[in-house]
Amino acid sequence: MKPTYNGKVRDVYDLRDKLILHSTDRISAFDVVFREEIKNKGKILNNVSIAWFGYFKNYPNHIIETNFEKFPPPYQANKEFQDSAVLVKKCQRIDFECIVRGYLYGSAYKEYLKTGKVSGITLGNGLKEAEILPEPIFTPSTKNDTGHDENITEEEMKNQVGNEIFEKIKTLSLEIYSKAQKKLKEIGILLCDTKLEFGIYQDEIILIDELLTPDSSRYWNEKTYQKGKTPESFDKQILRNYLEEIKWSKTPPPPPLPTTIINEISEKYHYLQDKLLQCLLEK
Ligand SMILES: Nc1ncnc2c1ncn2[C@@H]1O[C@H](COP(=O)(O)OP(=O)(O)OP(=O)(O)O)[C@@H](O)[C@H]1O
Ligand SMILES: [Mg+2]
Repeated sequence: MKPTYNGKVRDVYDLRDKLILHSTDRISAFDVVFREEIKNKGKILNNVSIAWFGYFKNYPNHIIETNFEKFPPPYQANKEFQDSAVLVKKCQRIDFECIVRGYLYGSAYKEYLKTGKVSGITLGNGLKEAEILPEPIFTPSTKNDTGHDENITEEEMKNQVGNEIFEKIKTLSLEIYSKAQKKLKEIGILLCDTKLEFGIYQDEIILIDELLTPDSSRYWNEKTYQKGKTPESFDKQILRNYLEEIKWSKTPPPPPLPTTIINEISEKYHYLQDKLLQCLLEK
């Protein structure tokens, strides 16, 4: 059984009007896939995403089936899908990464240092790295098939998708970020930022891809958080920080990853999954 398309992290099987998204244990950073795998990462991404889709059940999403045994044949027989694949509605993808940021971090902080702005939004003077923003901001980026995704302004996205779709997507993104952030306070976690994707299915805009996973979001420990300091994170930032530290060029080939880094990522992903599932699935 061969995937139709290998994403960086997910293998995609095209079933004409549906897709199977199989989350693997691969890890990528700066759009490069590493040779090492993080054991059980695929299951964690799948479980976390499904739990959030469930929590946000009032927002239409692409999920059709989460139990692989109920996938159409022959896929129902593929045990590798256990707990790590979903059957989804195949959508016309809206080719933008819909990013919401509550804190000034990562590429946004770099842009702010250079220009005083993030995605065309002017921010006040003297903000520190990881500082909370006066209110969450919507900072879309393009999804490039080749090369790196590029941060763009609201205007640029609006010009391409049209005003109506833009406003809907922006509102949905900000709402989901804010509700998730509020929920996470219950378990002492701050949601720095997150990336959402949307698609069109039967003329409706729906949530696609993954939702609020540690690959697509930055999760911080509220207890140790301090603006101006590198936050303790339960997400892929651990890998990005390591790569910055060794001054990797961010172009292939990827450097080998030390076991300490692999173990740390694994530990933080497991911790986050356990905390999240407890919080999101409790009755
Ligand atoms: N319901 C859906 N309909 C159509 N495409 C989808 C749907 N859900 C997810 N996708 C796409 O499936 C792919 C999932 O694989 P993965 O995220 O590993 O790819 P990727 O390497 O990140 O590529 P990309 O940069 O395009 O996201 C992504 O391209 C994502 O946009
Ligand atoms: Mg992706």
